[in-house]
Amino acid sequence: MGNVVIVYEGKAKKLFDLGNGVARLVFKDEVTAFNGARREVVPGKGVLSAKISSRLFEVLDDNGIPTHYMCYEGGASVRVRLAKAIPLEVIVRNYAYGSMLKRMPLLKKLMKLSKPIVELHFKSDEAGDPLILPEDAVEAKIIDWSVWDEIKSLALKINSILTSFFERRGLKLIDFKIEVGWVDDRLVVIDEISGDTIRVIDEKGEHLDKELFRKGASGKQLLEAYKRLQMIVGEPERVCSNADPQS
Ligand SMILES: Nc1ncnc2c1ncn2[C@@H]1O[C@H](COP(=O)(O)OP(=O)(O)OP(=O)(O)O)[C@@H](O)[C@H]1O
Ligand SMILES: [Mg+2]
Repeated sequence: MGNVVIVYEGKAKKLFDLGNGVARLVFKDEVTAFNGARREVVPGKGVLSAKISSRLFEVLDDNGIPTHYMCYEGGASVRVRLAKAIPLEVIVRNYAYGSMLKRMPLLKKLMKLSKPIVELHFKSDEAGDPLILPEDAVEAKIIDWSVWDEIKSLALKINSILTSFFERRGLKLIDFKIEVGWVDDRLVVIDEISGDTIRVIDEKGEHLDKELFRKGASGKQLLEAYKRLQMIVGEPERVCSNADPQS
């Protein structure tokens, strides 16, 4: 493993190129909110997020959604296909929350939307991940219209799958964010789907997601919620059988 190359380090994860189109995503113990303005190290968070994300990608894969996920390596590591990331964040909303309430103050928090909304943001820390129109992404040549159609239908399909998955477990899926990229010429879901990227509440309205941290909860309280979320989604089933993907 002497030739493992780090491709990228963000606030939440590190990505390593393992060769042959395979990569390792390592989840950090760090939690950040408000674009890094609030930050805390929470030991154990990386392992929980890696497990939650792995399990949710398995659920998507079982339902025919193309993803980068290969297997759970153990600890905080997930083996994925290296993709060419598309610099967009795709958000699906079922209930009004977060930035949607700010831009449309007539909506009340947790109001059920008449139908799910698929929203695009340009993934750029400098620009502050701004909300954009699909037209903007097309004009900027990030995607073309046929890819937008594909992204939108993929996002809505994922929403149906995850909504019923959580519903069966007594949780309500408020909204979530996905990222997409290209593996060969196929559009696939990349990155993570975890407590950091979804909003889910229980029957009492308690969050099992990063909203807790945004609202001022401690890292320890966040960890307790992520433990619960991990228990509810279950353990990853596809554990990598070999330590070295090249062997
Ligand atoms: N399979 C993949 N192939 C290539 N890049 C990927 C893959 N999965 C995730 N990525 C990219 O790896 C990065 C993961 O790092 P991380 O989420 O920590 O950083 P970030 O999203 O750039 O910034 P932030 O700290 O705001 O989350 C993201 O940029 C994501 O788009
Ligand atoms: Mg990220």
